[in-house]
Amino acid sequence: MDKVLIFDTTLRDGEQSAGAALNIEEKLEIAKQLENLRVDIIEAGFPISSQGDFEAVRRIAREVRTPVICALAHARPEAIDRAWEAIREAKHPRIHVFLSTSDPHLIYQLGKNREEILEAATAMVRRAKSYCPDIEFSPMDASRTDREFIYQVVESVIEAGATTVNIPDTVGYAIPEEFGDLIESLFNKVRNINKAVVSVHCHDDLGLAVANSLEAVRRGARQVECTVNGIGERAGNAALEEIVMAIHTRKDFFNLTSGIDSTQIYKSSRLVSDMTGFQIQRNKAVVGENAFRHQSGIHQDGLLKAAITYEIMNPQTVGIPSSSIVLGKLSGRHAFVERLAELGYSLNEEDLNRAFRSFKDLADKKKDVTDKDIESLVAQEMRTLSETYHIEHIQVSCGDHSVPTATVKLRGPGDVILADAALGTGPVDAVYKAINRLVAVPNKLTEFSVNSVTAGIDAMGEVLIRIESDGVTYTGRGAATDIVVASAKAYMNALNRLLAGKQAREKSKTEK
Ligand code: KIV
Ligand code: ZN
Repeated sequence: MDKVLIFDTTLRDGEQSAGAALNIEEKLEIAKQLENLRVDIIEAGFPISSQGDFEAVRRIAREVRTPVICALAHARPEAIDRAWEAIREAKHPRIHVFLSTSDPHLIYQLGKNREEILEAATAMVRRAKSYCPDIEFSPMDASRTDREFIYQVVESVIEAGATTVNIPDTVGYAIPEEFGDLIESLFNKVRNINKAVVSVHCHDDLGLAVANSLEAVRRGARQVECTVNGIGERAGNAALEEIVMAIHTRKDFFNLTSGIDSTQIYKSSRLVSDMTGFQIQRNKAVVGENAFRHQSGIHQDGLLKAAITYEIMNPQTVGIPSSSIVLGKLSGRHAFVERLAELGYSLNEEDLNRAFRSFKDLADKKKDVTDKDIESLVAQEMRTLSETYHIEHIQVSCGDHSVPTATVKLRGPGDVILADAALGTGPVDAVYKAINRLVAVPNKLTEFSVNSVTAGIDAMGEVLIRIESDGVTYTGRGAATDIVVASAKAYMNALNRLLAGKQAREKSKTEK
């Protein structure tokens, strides 16, 4: 069976989504999970775009050794040099060069003619090739480019050394049959096409990214560029989990395979959602809350008789934990550790002790501790690992006849304990104001939402916030059975990320 290569661009195109800024540690953690998922290629970033991106790509290249690590570069010598600089220590490095080829981009954006584009594309591929044997080229906005010109560009870049040619539907304009025709035509019109892998990169502006990618695969493409949960520029990219599960579930139709370990899909999806702060819509294919839930009586009846009646995929295949085992306050450390292992977590002794203490605290407040609670609890513990400021204590007083008041105690740098109090329009406002008095970093709250992790009045609440400072958005998350405490944790998380981001930017300025 033929294999389709899975090229994951969560850390590059995915991170380009408005409001999805990730720090270096978070990118590294996602890259390690993508390695567990067994993606073939990780596009780790766009090194010339910022010092932070450069550092993240370099760390990933050093520490993630199984997949190919790819760095993006636009068709300029300095971008290609910088990309190589970032990935030169990778075990399997790749440089991905892109340049627009469509008339709208040439006329209105670049002010260049086709000869100049052809010349720059081949020259930059040659330059990249002088560093590294594995080179990808993307004619940006390919789906709106004149066909004859695409053939010419593709043939020339392969001649210059490109080993993968990626055909992007940059603006999500293509329709499956039309896009499939374009891909198929490359095999007939480009003389040297068999010297390169044909790849596709589809955006979801018309909700067709997955359909376009799959049609391209049916017509001969053997690399698909995609992102976990489909995040990406504007409406996003083709969703990795949907591409992989379509190929897996419909082997009878595609007669193809991917190297992905599908049981890692759910964990990857949760991790990316948690780190980017982009919640997964309930009815999202494969990884949504409702994807394997059957509501109608007729469906439930069929399912009880035989799963095949209404279930085309088994939830365990994508690694969705079964919620049948419920822990409680009488559960011991052994049961907790086993449950963590079954959920795919392997924590070191220290983290495990902290997580177990939090589990016991939670079990005191909540009768049943489900898999979802455990996931939320572990995510909360992980968030506190690299904190500059840690919440020690919060107390609020509020009600319809009193002025909401909050007292906050924090542990700051050097383990110094800081405390202050403030009034607010509500308990969360009062807590945030008290925190602001202690951590004096100007910022603006731009988003605030609360969700319950499970059903029930004793459920854990998960708070997601976004704050803005100096034009940069930072996401924060917090979980607790008390939503005021969860809100405080989310704000602390966002502020800690803001401080870490500022510190990293200052460090890179002094290094320059
Ligand atoms: O959408 C696009 O065209 C891209 C390229 C850089 C491949 O992201
Ligand atoms: Zn893109």
